[in-house]
Amino acid sequence: MKPAVIILAAGMGTRMESELPKVLHKVGSTPLLIHTIQTALDMDAQKIIIVAGHGAELVRDVALDYNQKAEVVIQSEQLGTAHAVDQAREALKGFDGDVFVLYGDTPFIDADILTKMSGARTDGASIVVLGFETKIPSSYGRLILKSDGNLDAIIEAKDADKDQKNINFCNSGVICAPRKLLFELINEIDNTNANNEYYLTDIVKLARKRNLDCTTVHCPKENAMGINSRVELAEAEAYFQKTTRTKMMLNGATLVDPETVWFAFDTVVGRDVTIEQNVIFGPNTTVETGAYIRAFSHIEGAHISTGAIVGPYARLRPGAELANNSKVGNFCEVKNAQVGEGAKINHLSYVGDATIGDNANIGAGTITCNYDGVSKHRTEIGERAFIGSNTALVAPVRIGNDAMTGAGSVISKNIPDGALGLGRARQKIKEGFALKILNKLKNAKIATNKD
Ligand code: UD1
Ligand code: MG
Repeated sequence: MKPAVIILAAGMGTRMESELPKVLHKVGSTPLLIHTIQTALDMDAQKIIIVAGHGAELVRDVALDYNQKAEVVIQSEQLGTAHAVDQAREALKGFDGDVFVLYGDTPFIDADILTKMSGARTDGASIVVLGFETKIPSSYGRLILKSDGNLDAIIEAKDADKDQKNINFCNSGVICAPRKLLFELINEIDNTNANNEYYLTDIVKLARKRNLDCTTVHCPKENAMGINSRVELAEAEAYFQKTTRTKMMLNGATLVDPETVWFAFDTVVGRDVTIEQNVIFGPNTTVETGAYIRAFSHIEGAHISTGAIVGPYARLRPGAELANNSKVGNFCEVKNAQVGEGAKINHLSYVGDATIGDNANIGAGTITCNYDGVSKHRTEIGERAFIGSNTALVAPVRIGNDAMTGAGSVISKNIPDGALGLGRARQKIKEGFALKILNKLKNAKIATNKD
């Protein structure tokens, strides 16, 4: 049976020193909370309940914008993790399966780990807790095991005695338990502890009183990483980038200098793609098989098809769609534009709100003048059209198939198929004028120096 997931996200995140709720800070250009929601979706969760408090409205907007399945419940006072989970009681009424408790600030718990926990439930444990080993257990809760290896209790660092403090097996915070048992045990939790908080961790002790088996599943400490400050946010970003680079390479992309390539959470890269040095991907980009991304390119919201070549020094903004074997070269910016098969925009251009036909050639310095100060307008360029260097295309405007513009033209009227459009001053030749002017200027300078 599909599980339900509760995501705790009500905490203030004081140490972030931020106006933004902690769970909306980003790793891989994506809010931390979204990483956890995606894990729940990967688990095919039947219900996803987010417990929000600080900045709840904003948290709700971001969560629902990502996936309509997310439900947000409010914890108006943060009285502890058990109290937070309790806020999901109503929303889960009638649900008869297992519940995972996850955290909005712990983005690297993945579906593989949760599936292992489900396995431990199937093997008979009533409560499964995710633990990790660390040399510096500092403020984490310690997992106290029985001699048979099962879990006996979780002791919070502040409540631990000296021996317990020496335990290196720590609580990630993630637990799995059947819905009914979870809320029954939460009813029994009190707040008589060092923090005067309702500790979710107390459910283990209470389950043991009922003689129920509790057990642990191990994960690497990096997966359990929680984010509390901007320093930890940067550490999490580094970990995310490192693992994503490795994943991309194992999936068949060549990264010439992996450490200089930055991915977003949702970047999709096909096989036999080459990515040179210093390339940055923002959200929502797909790079298809065999495309080539050259150095120093910045890419977001773009679709790059097979065989396309991008950069060096290209900027692709949202809505840039590059068809097969197209090219966007150095110092070119493309936004909300479809670039046809085999079309080329090779040097120093801005192409925005435009359609470029197959095999069109856009000369150096071409600018689509898409904005009149109030509205955006489209430029349409036909198949095999040839746009001369330094053409200004004043939108809305259409350049026909096989049409041409003269270099340096300002084009504000449509050009029919096969026609040449010229919009520039006619050149004049004045014989001997250059020498005359030079002599005049030289003589003037001599006269001034004499004064
Ligand atoms: C908790 C665990 C600890 C574990 C650690 C892992 C308890 C009592 N302790 O401690 O064993 O090692 O996590 O990081 O559970 N939250 C709410 N509402 C609240 C309280 C907390 O939404 O009323 C959220 C916080 O925003 C945070 C998460 O729950 O995302 C954990 O709360 P926090 O106060 O950080 O617990 P820890 O002291 O870290
Ligand atoms: Mg914490």
